[in-house]
Amino acid sequence: MSQKQLAIIGNPVSHSFSPKMHNYISKKLGLDYFYSAIEVLDEDFDSAIENLTKNNFCGFNITAPYKVRIMDKVDVLSPEAKLFGSVNTCVNKNGKLYGYSTDAPGLYRSLIHEGIDITDKDILFIGAGGVTTPIMIHFFDKGAKSISIINRTIEKAQKISEYVEKVCKKKVNVGLDKSHYDIVINTTSVGMHPKTNQSPVYEIDYIDKNTAVIDLIYNPEKTLFLELCEKKGAKTVNGLGMLIGQGILSYELFTNTKLPDSIFDDIMKDVFNRK
Ligand code: ATR
Repeated sequence: MSQKQLAIIGNPVSHSFSPKMHNYISKKLGLDYFYSAIEVLDEDFDSAIENLTKNNFCGFNITAPYKVRIMDKVDVLSPEAKLFGSVNTCVNKNGKLYGYSTDAPGLYRSLIHEGIDITDKDILFIGAGGVTTPIMIHFFDKGAKSISIINRTIEKAQKISEYVEKVCKKKVNVGLDKSHYDIVINTTSVGMHPKTNQSPVYEIDYIDKNTAVIDLIYNPEKTLFLELCEKKGAKTVNGLGMLIGQGILSYELFTNTKLPDSIFDDIMKDVFNRK
């Protein structure tokens, strides 16, 4: 049988770790899939998706800037993808495209791996990036006690808050409403390479040794924000786990398999050279 094809679609994609990660999993499991990166221009998006579907690609990941646009191309949306308003994984089943969103569940999986529990926790989101809404909905679904959001542009935070409140029937506080948060998560791009000398916030009185802080950025490995939080004694986690978590879940959807739990550490070690 010929090799089965997978890919990531976006612009740019040349720096994506997904090909390395997915090809590693295939090799490790002895499955005959090949995963490539396909950079697609705005004007070529429609035809690119049609070609992938026609050419029997088993599935593909979608990254920026197409995670919302792809929703129109999908025949069957998973309930989560519909609620999240975003698709990062498409599976081609006999010419029909099924759309899923593995970003938020991927983050959740990586947090379990880190021993961070969401249940009954007061959670603060810093920023209104594209993955904020899915993560909030997923965290409420997993038992978060309260969710608050701060953002440079307050209107964007308000919009997210209104949407999540409607979907989850739970209040999302806009602004700092507590003196302490159990979990703080940065979804902004502030501090990302090459502007590593910036932090989204500097006043962090609400963070202490009982706070777990997650920065979705993984380059650099430790952002200035995480450094500041570490100085206050917080447990810190970068975004590499989310990248790995969403990749594992996508791979499981592409191949209709369940990967062993050990694959997370294998990828961390063998693909990313981390312990
Ligand atoms: P995504 O691609 O996921 O939407 P992004 O555009 O890289 O993410 O980042 C969006 C988030 O980073 C927003 O919360 C944005 O704040 P605004 O809503 O005010 O634009 C935040 N962000 C980006 N640059 C920022 C900066 N210099 N200071 C503060 N927040 C910033």
